[in-house]
Amino acid sequence: MTRMPRVVEWIGDAEGGVLRILDQTCLPTEVAFRDCHTVEDVWEAIRSLRVRGAPAIGIAAAYGVVIGAQSGASIRDAIDSLRSSRPTAVNLFWALDRMAAKAVRDGPNCGTLLAEAQAIDEENHQMCLAIGRHGASLVPDRGGVLTHCNAGSLIAGEYGTALAPLYTAHANGKRFQVFADETRPLLQGSRLTAWELMQHGLDVTLICDNMAAQVMREGRVQMIVVGADRIAANGDTANKIGTYGLAVLARAHGIPFYVAAPTSTFDLSRSSGDQIPIEQRDSREVTDGFGRPTAPAGVSVYNPAFDVTPAGLITAIVTEHGIIQPIEPATIGAVIHRSQN
Ligand code: MRU
Repeated sequence: MTRMPRVVEWIGDAEGGVLRILDQTCLPTEVAFRDCHTVEDVWEAIRSLRVRGAPAIGIAAAYGVVIGAQSGASIRDAIDSLRSSRPTAVNLFWALDRMAAKAVRDGPNCGTLLAEAQAIDEENHQMCLAIGRHGASLVPDRGGVLTHCNAGSLIAGEYGTALAPLYTAHANGKRFQVFADETRPLLQGSRLTAWELMQHGLDVTLICDNMAAQVMREGRVQMIVVGADRIAANGDTANKIGTYGLAVLARAHGIPFYVAAPTSTFDLSRSSGDQIPIEQRDSREVTDGFGRPTAPAGVSVYNPAFDVTPAGLITAIVTEHGIIQPIEPATIGAVIHRSQN
């Protein structure tokens, strides 16, 4: 597999180092890095999607806490600030809770906090590889696979989550065509997924979001796989806006619809998807996303960044501890329990 640039990386020692991120807003035309020296830098990088995708947001925030400790200011303030960067991906809160617990146990020590952030980073890497191993058998040989947004190498962990089964299956010799949804309004599918699959030498075809139904109807898709930002206790799954529509289409066409996510993406405190906070983003992402206005000035815009797919539309959830099927509170609880022991 081609080596991808590191999405998030700590450069230097604990006391004087910085967080270096791959600035994903520059892709696919430029591979550019940005160093975060302050908690505000990290907050801005997450908020503006320079670093994005649920696991990567959590890892970047964890390193942001180390930066907070470097300044000698309150760790609590740094954590509270980072918590406000984006609301939907639970990995952000999961990682910050872990960093807070570490700070309570060992004090606001840059060295131990950096070790904890690096442990979160490395664990994510291993989780993604395991998701790939568990999900590879689901990938059709010589068939078509459709994915939405970006949940691959660019969310950290080398293989990512949704794309991990594809990378593993490809490494095992399977050959298939990947359809990448463009993913309006911020185009993570075309800017990021199409780019990284091409870097890795997979067969990728880009489609606009509104072409998915036709591509399914033509019999070109045998599997749909997406990532997740938060999964409730009953399996309802929040992911990039447009995911729910794909799940409905998958049901209509008899195509299996899979979610791939590490156990850090489950939020058992939410009994159903209705309780998952959905991020609302700036209207200009819809009206001015192509470098020029594409809507009349002053038009009202609704721009939810995520939607919730009901568990009943999901065929199975692939985690680092195996495949959850059927998707029920009990089967989910069993996997989470395994991850904690
Ligand atoms: O707004 P983004 O680009 O952060 O949204 C990302 C997604 O919706 C991904 O599918 C999700 O975070 C899973 S990444 C493993």
